[in-house]
Amino acid sequence: MNKCIKRIVMKLGKTLTKMPLLNSFRGKIKFKNKSGLLIKCKIKSKGNGNEIIIGNNCVFKRCSFTLLGNNCKVLFDDNVFAQNAAFFIEDDNGIIRVGSDTSFAGKIHIACTEGAKIIIGRDCLFSSEITIRNGDSHSIFNINSDERINFAKDVIICDHIWVGNRAMINKGVLISSNSIVGNGAIVTNQFTEMNVVLAGVPARIVKRGVNWNAKRN
Ligand SMILES: CC(C)(COP(=O)(O)OP(=O)(O)OC[C@H]1O[C@@H](n2cnc3c(N)ncnc32)[C@H](O)[C@@H]1OP(=O)(O)O)[C@@H](O)C(=O)NCCC(=O)NCCS
Repeated sequence: MNKCIKRIVMKLGKTLTKMPLLNSFRGKIKFKNKSGLLIKCKIKSKGNGNEIIIGNNCVFKRCSFTLLGNNCKVLFDDNVFAQNAAFFIEDDNGIIRVGSDTSFAGKIHIACTEGAKIIIGRDCLFSSEITIRNGDSHSIFNINSDERINFAKDVIICDHIWVGNRAMINKGVLISSNSIVGNGAIVTNQFTEMNVVLAGVPARIVKRGVNWNAKRN
């Protein structure tokens, strides 16, 4: 057992027994207290200075955290719930930040590249089979100038956003608070207006002046 894994044992106490797939993790994982749970999660880090910081009362079931760069950070505020979520950072200085009370109900892939950020606000609800990426993972060049045209750009999903099944959120997207993303939407633009429904391919505003809650009445 290396030093890093010893530190996780101390921080997690009993919950380590529920974490049989723990791989070697070079960097730090910090729980703000001992109330967090990692159940059947995989953690992989290659590089230096990587951190996963988890707030109070967070629960992660069958999630993976992959940090393949240096000085990458995955940060969760309090009461985050995720199952079957993959948090993936390639390249240096990437940041994935998730606000308090946000839930990832089903399979979701969050891919962060080229040192850009993915910021998710408070009280958001993500359905299943969703992809969020702040880069394209491969390069596109202008054939005349040879210049690259598709650099990664921050993704910002503000507070209280509900994202429907099979939505995809691409680089540079901004979704403003209290909004809803319809199922199957491919979101590619910045939406500065709050309280809207975004839907379609590419996603457009299909309704204004709405809000949502997680209940059915
Ligand atoms: C986004 C959603 C919540 C909006 O519901 P709503 O406010 O009742 O919207 P409406 O059904 O009145 O549709 C408004 C317009 O948007 C269009 N639209 C709605 N959802 C759409 C979608 N997913 N893709 C493309 N267009 C869509 C409608 O065709 C309609 O267009 P029109 O005005 O030209 O007729 C709903 O359509 C949706 O996608 N539900 C799935 C949610 C989900 O994935 N839940 C999983 C559990 S978390």
